[in-house]
Amino acid sequence: MKTLFTGIQPTGSLHLGNYFGAVKNWVKLQHNFETYISIVDLHAITILYNPKDMQKRILDLALNLYACGIDKEKTTLFVQSEVPGHADLTWMFNTVIPIGELERMTQFKDKAKQNKKNVNMGLLDYPVLQAADILLYKAGIVPVGEDQIQHIELTREIARRFNSRYGKTFPECEAYLTETPRVMGIDGENKMSKSKNNAIGLLESRDDIWSKLAGAKTDPARIRRSDAGDPEKCNIFSYHKLVTPEEEREEIIHGCKTAGIGCVDCKKRLLKSLFNVLGPIQERYSKLILEKKEIIEILESNAEKCRKVAKNTIIEAKEKMGLKPVWKI
Ligand code: AMP
Ligand code: TRP
Repeated sequence: MKTLFTGIQPTGSLHLGNYFGAVKNWVKLQHNFETYISIVDLHAITILYNPKDMQKRILDLALNLYACGIDKEKTTLFVQSEVPGHADLTWMFNTVIPIGELERMTQFKDKAKQNKKNVNMGLLDYPVLQAADILLYKAGIVPVGEDQIQHIELTREIARRFNSRYGKTFPECEAYLTETPRVMGIDGENKMSKSKNNAIGLLESRDDIWSKLAGAKTDPARIRRSDAGDPEKCNIFSYHKLVTPEEEREEIIHGCKTAGIGCVDCKKRLLKSLFNVLGPIQERYSKLILEKKEIIEILESNAEKCRKVAKNTIIEAKEKMGLKPVWKI
């Protein structure tokens, strides 16, 4: 069975972008691959954060992922910093990748702009740690959102450089995208992201989500209720595509184009379809909160399993690099 690896930062509860852009796909793929999902706390500390919140954020993410349908048996969900091999392999990879390759990463450039006071070494090295995450488990499949493609390409580049210098050791992995690799935010202008304040959280209440939807822009050309609209120009319709069954969607398209349905009604229908997806996730989450202790135990034993796999890869890499602590002279 091929190995799948993916990572997610502990930035608090998940939003629709995370779910439809990535997590929903992971839930499906976990049945077809040996699946590892890492809560990447070492990545998260590359921007300023409050140490007092970190553990809570990590555990909350684990609960969110299980609530979305990640299977405790099928998937090895673990906390990155509990497996020292990630940092070990990062250091080895640091010696094969030129700095210039890292400086041209768009995510580095964006984050450096946003965090001018803290452009630290870890921020530049972020994609190398990501490559180490993936290659430590020799994963071939990496399901992510569109924003991560450049990092996956760099991972392949690192594998190629390592292999050509030291002999074939690592596979060249492939990014797997979902059908919706980029979910727009409620502002209709940027991709959905916690930091842009335009996200709909999976655990938000009906009232809170309704107040976000009620204020959201629709097709800008549809000014009056009697104007016909174009669903393809409407951000609200982009969410219908995610959650509303095809037949009902056809009805909405027709209604919008003939001004038969108003934007408020269309948004109410969206709320209903959204909760067909969010309702069960929220229910599972409220049960999982009561099982925190058990979840922590699972994370601990998964980390133990990962340490074993990681150790083998590190020994192999060291051997190839001539670092094996067995004297041969
Ligand atoms: P992050 O929370 O940035 O660690 O992202 C976790 C996963 O969700 C990654 O695979 C991202 O590519 C994906 N993701 C985050 N935001 C979006 C979005 N707005 N649309 C699609 N995928 C997203
Ligand atoms: N950088 C990824 C993100 O922000 C998270 C991540 C870290 C990751 N390590 C990974 C994703 C390894 C895939 C594989 O979404």
